[in-house]
Amino acid sequence: MYVLVGMPVTPLWSIEVPSAHGLLRAFEPTQAEVLAAAGALAGFNNDSHNAAMLTNTLELTASDVVELYRELRDGGGHPFLLECDGILMGDADFRGVKNAHAEFAIMVGARSEQSRGLGTCYAVMVHQAARLALGIRQVFCTIIPTNLASRRMVEKLGYRLDKSPYGQSLIEADDDLAMAIDWQAFDLAHADFLSRLVVAKRDPGNPIGADRCR
Ligand SMILES: CC(C)(COP(=O)(O)OP(=O)(O)OC[C@H]1O[C@@H](n2cnc3c(N)ncnc32)[C@H](O)[C@@H]1OP(=O)(O)O)[C@@H](O)C(=O)NCCC(=O)NCCS
Repeated sequence: MYVLVGMPVTPLWSIEVPSAHGLLRAFEPTQAEVLAAAGALAGFNNDSHNAAMLTNTLELTASDVVELYRELRDGGGHPFLLECDGILMGDADFRGVKNAHAEFAIMVGARSEQSRGLGTCYAVMVHQAARLALGIRQVFCTIIPTNLASRRMVEKLGYRLDKSPYGQSLIEADDDLAMAIDWQAFDLAHADFLSRLVVAKRDPGNPIGADRCR
């Protein structure tokens, strides 16, 4: 069973699951949480490998990260912070949200934490929240051809190459890949993991306490 807990009105959402890695948590941050995470996120983004995979060309400061989160939210997007046992691991977001369509991006920040299965877990978690809580019906992602980890991760999620005009409109370079999720494949591939997720609204007065009450 998927568990939805909480009250309506522009809520922030969290998703939790115990795992072999530890307690995985993805959550839409408060502004204070964005400020607290911004320095570490800037560092993750500025790592040369991550920057290349994300096609970031500029070094980011903590202030840039705060501004990017603000722009993302102002545009209707949904950023998530990703934690394992309370330690920040990276972030993910749904951007360009329009007509229940969105574009997905994710980063497991520390190189030492990549390729250990975390990206796949977090991606499943936030996709489930997108579908159940955020009203997003279709999700796309774009990947540069050299980003093998990202391509494999989204294929495992259930994404398939997407040649539709909409998908193609999202790519920045001719050889970028546009992919779109197949929810049936997603459900089939992750049934057990999905059954253990708790998707909950956060209590704005006590966001951390609310997350832990289930
Ligand atoms: C892309 C990213 C989120 C994937 O998360 P991750 O935790 O590293 O990936 P996972 O461990 O969940 O692995 C997912 C799959 O990719 C494969 N994979 C992981 N790293 C790989 C690599 N360097 N080369 C090839 N395949 C790789 C894994 O083996 C796994 O497939 P498998 O289960 O068939 O073996 C992470 O590597 C990352 O943040 N990279 C930098 C930023 C980025 O590229 N973001 C995505 C932009 S679209």
